Amino acid sequence: MSVSEETALAPADWWESAVIYQVYPRSFADGDGDGVGDLAGLTARLPYIAELGVDGIWMTPFQPSPQVDQGYDVSDYCGVDPLFGTLEQFESLLEQAHALGLKVLLDVVPNHCSSEHPLFQAALAAGPGSPERELFHFVPGPGGDTPPNNWQSVFGGRAWSRANPSSETDLDWYLHLFSAGQPDWNWRNPAVGDYFDGVLRFWFDKGVDGLRIDVAHALFKAEGLPDSPSEGGVVDGLRSNPQVSDQEEVHDVYRRWRTLAEKYEPHRLLVGEVNLEPARAARYTRSDEMQQAFAFAFVKLGWDPEAWAAVGNELEAARLLHGATPTRALENHDIVRAATRFGGGSVGAARARAALVALLGLPGPAYLYQGQELGLPEVDVPVEARVDPMWARGGVCRDGARVPLPWTEDAGRNHGFSLAGPAVASEPWLPQPAGWGAHAVELQEQDPASALNLTKAALELRRTLWRDEVFTAADGGTWRVEPGNLLVCERNEQFLVAVAMGDEPVQLPAGRLLLSAAPLTEDGWLQPNNAAWILRG
Ligand code: GLC
Repeated sequence: MSVSEETALAPADWWESAVIYQVYPRSFADGDGDGVGDLAGLTARLPYIAELGVDGIWMTPFQPSPQVDQGYDVSDYCGVDPLFGTLEQFESLLEQAHALGLKVLLDVVPNHCSSEHPLFQAALAAGPGSPERELFHFVPGPGGDTPPNNWQSVFGGRAWSRANPSSETDLDWYLHLFSAGQPDWNWRNPAVGDYFDGVLRFWFDKGVDGLRIDVAHALFKAEGLPDSPSEGGVVDGLRSNPQVSDQEEVHDVYRRWRTLAEKYEPHRLLVGEVNLEPARAARYTRSDEMQQAFAFAFVKLGWDPEAWAAVGNELEAARLLHGATPTRALENHDIVRAATRFGGGSVGAARARAALVALLGLPGPAYLYQGQELGLPEVDVPVEARVDPMWARGGVCRDGARVPLPWTEDAGRNHGFSLAGPAVASEPWLPQPAGWGAHAVELQEQDPASALNLTKAALELRRTLWRDEVFTAADGGTWRVEPGNLLVCERNEQFLVAVAMGDEPVQLPAGRLLLSAAPLTEDGWLQPNNAAWILRG
């Protein structure tokens, strides 16, 4: 080995620059025509994802589940629900994804399982005081219809259900931060940690490249499960509630998981759904915990330059404190699509394009949600067709971001969502609205100005900038708002992102324009709701 090789810097880990495409399998592509997306459909469409120019996919749960919360109620952590296919089909998917150069991340749901999980069923059968019940939070209530504490479910309603409502001797309630079909595991019982080590090993041994950790900050609850002081006992979106989430003990879980992830070559990636404010969330990505945690303060931004700059600088401060680069996304399966959130109609669509260009130019890894590359708006799913348990329990409805993708303009075979199977495919599990075909992949592929082609161009340029070391893993980001509501993020001395968030065209900062979300004015100014990448002189 030559001296220069010996002294060369270690190559950055792949996830530092990565863009991951989130696949919601139910709604991506339906391989057997039953109206529900599946592994066969996703496998057939992997080349589409590879051609986008992303580095990998994150698949939301496809494990066996009663589907009370579309798979986030898992009854077998190491299998495939027949609705989506078989384990062999998953193995083939993984192989084909790797052959196309795509990493594959899965979702692990450690906060709760399904009430149909064999261990929960055994706990119900074993009765009060049994060791089986120690795996969950079974607590006797004070009597009558009063639960053990005042916690409310994230989905609405109380976070407790009776174990055995018709029994006069079994007075236990069980805790569920989400629906009654999703009992919370008791992480204070070491058997739970051992069980999940096995789950991680199962998927890592298969060659899965990493895991997205669901509700990662909530596994431990305060000792003794005290009442919540917040008004009405609301869990408050799991944020900043010292009774319910963000307990110190949870960090040991991620230290243990990181050690396990690093037993594999290449190391496996852990990315957390840590729905906390930046300073608290950053503590989950300390050097011996997860490599990434979603920056939820960023995910939820509206079209407000001051808010973007404030969140940007707050995330940067957290990065400097804990060394973790923010992991950014603008969309996922739980929140309103950007085009609608940013105002809807043509204005919202333009803003969503601009925000996407900004996202891909900002420091750190980025996640895209399926359909974001098409600029899909949120769908107002008819009330009678809604299936989200959050909606059913009185919360917001998340179905509008989960409608099956339009692949073809023509409505036949559910706009091309249903690939093979019977001559007439079943209705999709959520109805596609009138006009859905106008967003179709096949149309956008042919339109040079489409959101799809803009996404591909941005991803390609991003790769080049990483290759040329204009982008580096050390980049932070200094944010400010200039006159005319021009939002600026200086990524480093060479590169900045500018977003026109005001009502009038604004002059571009000095430098060379590399990319914009829409054409500039004749004078070379940024129109409102446009964004640009600038190589500084
Ligand atoms: C996460 C998931 C969401 C699910 C919830 C309960 O927030 O993203 O879809 O409903 O956890 O598992």
